[in-house]
Amino acid sequence: MKIMVVGGGGREHAIIKKLKENKEITEIYALPGNGGIAADATCVPVKATDLDVICNFAKENAIDYAVVAPDDPLVLGCVDALSELGIPCFGPEKKAAIIEGSKVFSKNLMKKYGIPTAEYEVFTDLESALNYLETAPIPTVIKADGLALGKGVIIAMTRDEAKAAVRSMMEDKIFGESGSQVVVEEFLTGPEVSVLSFTDGKTVVPMISSMDHKRALDGDKGLNTGGMGTVAPNPYYTKEIADRCMKEIFLPTIEAMNKEDRSFKGCLYFGLMLTEKGPKVIEYNCRFGDPETQVVLPLLESDLLTVMKATTNGTLAETEVKFADKNACCVIMASAGYPQKYESGYEIKIADEVKDSVYVAGAKLEDGILKNAGGRVLGVTAVEETLEKAIDSAYEKVQKVTFANAFYRKDIGKKAKEAK
Ligand code: AMP
Ligand code: GLY
Repeated sequence: MKIMVVGGGGREHAIIKKLKENKEITEIYALPGNGGIAADATCVPVKATDLDVICNFAKENAIDYAVVAPDDPLVLGCVDALSELGIPCFGPEKKAAIIEGSKVFSKNLMKKYGIPTAEYEVFTDLESALNYLETAPIPTVIKADGLALGKGVIIAMTRDEAKAAVRSMMEDKIFGESGSQVVVEEFLTGPEVSVLSFTDGKTVVPMISSMDHKRALDGDKGLNTGGMGTVAPNPYYTKEIADRCMKEIFLPTIEAMNKEDRSFKGCLYFGLMLTEKGPKVIEYNCRFGDPETQVVLPLLESDLLTVMKATTNGTLAETEVKFADKNACCVIMASAGYPQKYESGYEIKIADEVKDSVYVAGAKLEDGILKNAGGRVLGVTAVEETLEKAIDSAYEKVQKVTFANAFYRKDIGKKAKEAK
C-alpha cells in the first residue's frame, strides 16, 4: 500500500514513523518532508500548499491513502481536491477546516451552541475596535481572524498595548488579510491542556492529553513559539475533567459542526484552559498539534493507519484506539535566536541509539550530511513508566544530539510535575 503524507515538520515525522509500524505499507511519500524525514520516507519537493502538484503526484503514483497534516493545505481544500480524484484522505474538508481557518467562525459557533469559551467581540473596522478598547477589561487578548503561522494572538497587558495590537493587525496588516477581522477576547487564566481527538463526524475519541510549552525560555518567559516541548499525559487533566469536556465541549462541537453541514473528519484539536469556572476552549485546530503529536503518537498502541481509515470511512465507533499507560516527554532543540533571527546550515549529529527517538522538523540533507534549516530543528522524545523518568530520559537523549548553536528549554515538564 502506498501512502502520502502532506507536510514536512516534526509532526509529520512522528506520523510517518508511527505509520511505518503497519507492515502492509510498502511506500511512504512525504510532500515535501525534510532532510530528517528522508530516512523514513521518500521526500518529494513540493510546497504543501500547491494543491495541483500534490493532486497530480497522488494520481501518477497511484496513492492508496493520503494524510494531510498541516493547517494551510487543509484550509485551502486539499482533502476535497484529493477526494475528488477518488483518493481517500485523513483530514477535514475545507468547509470543516474553517474551524481553525477562521477564529470568527469558531467563536460564533461556540456562542451559538453554548460551548464554553472566553467572552468576545468581533471587529471589522479599526475605529470600533479602538472605541471598544477604551473601556474593555484589561488584560485582553487580540486575535487575527485567519491563519497567521500560530502568531496571530497577542495578549495585551495594558490598554495601550491592546490598541497597538489592533492597529498592527488591522492597519499595518502584519498578518496580511488574516487581520482584516479581529476578535477581542476575555483574558482567561488556568492550566492549559491540549486534547487531540480522532473523529469520523459521528464518534469522537480523545487521544491521550498533553501539555505544550509555547514560550521560548525557561519559566514560560520570552516570546511565543511554535512549541518548545510537550509532555503526555497532562496531569491537570483528570478523569473528572475529561468526562466534563466530553459532555460540555467535545460532543457538542461535533454535533454543532454537523448541524452547520460542516461534518468534521480527521483530527480535531481542542486547546483548553481549565479555569475556575470550568474547562473552556481557547482554540480549535483542524489537525494534529505540533509538538503534541511527538508525545501522543509514541503512546498510541493501536495501528495508526487503521484508526485514520476509520475516521474516513465512518467506522470509528467499532475501531479500537488504545494508548499505553505510560508517560512521554518531548524536548525541542531549536537554533539559538528562534523565534526571531537564527543561523542555520550547521551539521546535526544524532547518535545511533537515539535515532528512533528523534523527530526532525527543520533540516536539509547536503551531500548526505544533515544540516539545520529551521528555527525548530528537531524534537527528542522519551517514553517511560513515570513522568519524572520520561523527562530525565528525554534530557539524557538530548545530550546525544549535537549541532552548533543548539538551544532548548531545560524545564520541559516541570509544571506538570508540580501538578502532582
Ligand atoms: P493560540 O495561538 O491560539 O494557540 O494562542 C496562543 C496562546 O495564547 C495560548 O496557548 C494561550 O496561552 C494564550 N491565549 C489565547 N487565548 C487566550 C485567552 N482568552 N486568555 C488567556 N490566554 C490566551
Ligand atoms: N502546539 C500547538 C499547535 O500545534 O497549534
